[in-house]
Amino acid sequence: MQTARIGVTGLAVMGRNLARNLARHGHPVALHNRTAARTKALVEEFGDEGAFLPAETAEQFVASLERPRRLVIMVKAGAPTDAVIDEFAPLLESGDMIVDGGNAHFADTRRREAALRERGIHFVGTGISGGEEGALHGPSIMPGGSAESYEALGPLLEDIAANVDGTPCCTHVGPDGAGHFVKMVHNGIEYSDMQLIAESYDLLRHAAGLAPAEIAEVFRTWNTGRLESYLIEITAEVLAHTDAGTGKPFVDVVLDQAEQKGTGRWTVQTALDLGVPVGGIAEAVFARSVSGHAGLREASRNLPGPARSAVAGSGFADKVEKALYASKIVAYAQGFHEIQAGSAEYGWNIDAGAMAAIWRGGCIIRARFLDRIRAAYEADPATPTLLTDDHFAEALGDAQDAWRDVVATAARIGVPAPGFSTALAYYDSLRADRLPAALTQGQRDFFGAHTYRRVDRDGSFHTLWGGDRTEATA
Ligand code: 6PG
Repeated sequence: MQTARIGVTGLAVMGRNLARNLARHGHPVALHNRTAARTKALVEEFGDEGAFLPAETAEQFVASLERPRRLVIMVKAGAPTDAVIDEFAPLLESGDMIVDGGNAHFADTRRREAALRERGIHFVGTGISGGEEGALHGPSIMPGGSAESYEALGPLLEDIAANVDGTPCCTHVGPDGAGHFVKMVHNGIEYSDMQLIAESYDLLRHAAGLAPAEIAEVFRTWNTGRLESYLIEITAEVLAHTDAGTGKPFVDVVLDQAEQKGTGRWTVQTALDLGVPVGGIAEAVFARSVSGHAGLREASRNLPGPARSAVAGSGFADKVEKALYASKIVAYAQGFHEIQAGSAEYGWNIDAGAMAAIWRGGCIIRARFLDRIRAAYEADPATPTLLTDDHFAEALGDAQDAWRDVVATAARIGVPAPGFSTALAYYDSLRADRLPAALTQGQRDFFGAHTYRRVDRDGSFHTLWGGDRTEATA
């Protein structure tokens, strides 16, 4: 009886395309789905792409896998993942591997990994980015779990991943939940990148008075330079598209309420717990949230403020390009800070440069820019922030005037630009000699005797605010 090298259960579009990708690379794949019709349809439609071993029951599926078994689950994150694990784990043996390729929360992955480890089963929480097309033609793959499981899985995953300059966009991220953590931050950065692009569009439209088709051309030009990326490329496509029914620009017929499935929110929640400032990602999540509050927006429509009139002259698009590049550097610096903080907190030992390297291809945030980040970490693996890397510091310096002008223009004419604004504020906060945090400390000490430290002596102090205002050592 032929055995499969790997099995995929959950054959919705991501699972189906991942199974096809594996088969196309010559790996016999066992197939299973809750409803057998999907399994049948896959084999009927794509059976000639490789060796598929369809199974109707969980038992058949497991029996068709070579040992140690590699079982990939591609189901909805949350309860469905636990249900599938409960179904399959009793059928597995010590040394077998369960790969969860969904967008699971890393804390769930840590819990599942610990529980399955006790039974001798490797649980490999794996981030997979690239959407449907990526899953089929080469995604970016971020596997967590044990180093031992990566030995058995790595070659297969690297085989089907995207490849940039001979390097597969897949590497062992680190133990237990590290892979899903990094995928979560990838998505947070994705939110931030998308928000900055959206603000660029909004400014070009309202401050420069350009039409969507003209803005598409601007993005096309940007995509030939340092901003070259998948997100910039598809932005041009979306903006150039005309709605067939109305003849209007497509972007004008879409309801302006952005949705989200939760990974951006998780990135911010986790950053709050870790104490990492990720304002760019937070503002991106909030911007989607504001857009969705239809009642709130309706009630506020007549509030006073400037009409969004076109004020910018020629050359404004170049300024927006600089503001976008600078803000993007900040967004990525914040995301990588979170990865390093998570790695330290959970003892994952994540190689930040390697994460930039595997995001160069396959994933949604793939970009020329990521090679710069990889190089920055190669030059200084312990750098506290990407902002101080020579290349990025120079770009930030060069963007200064334009960046400030764009933020000021947005504020003056009433175009919301939370992403650009928070990025600039973060930048200015980091480079400030003194921050007003000293005053905050004074207030805390005043109302709650929370104490403060001094610039000139070690120790903690409290001023007797309600008394003679002398200072006591706390
Ligand atoms: C990817 C994407 C993918 C998905 C997002 C969309 O890396 O392939 O990030 O995971 O498209 O979850 O997220 P929202 O629905 O929250 O925008």
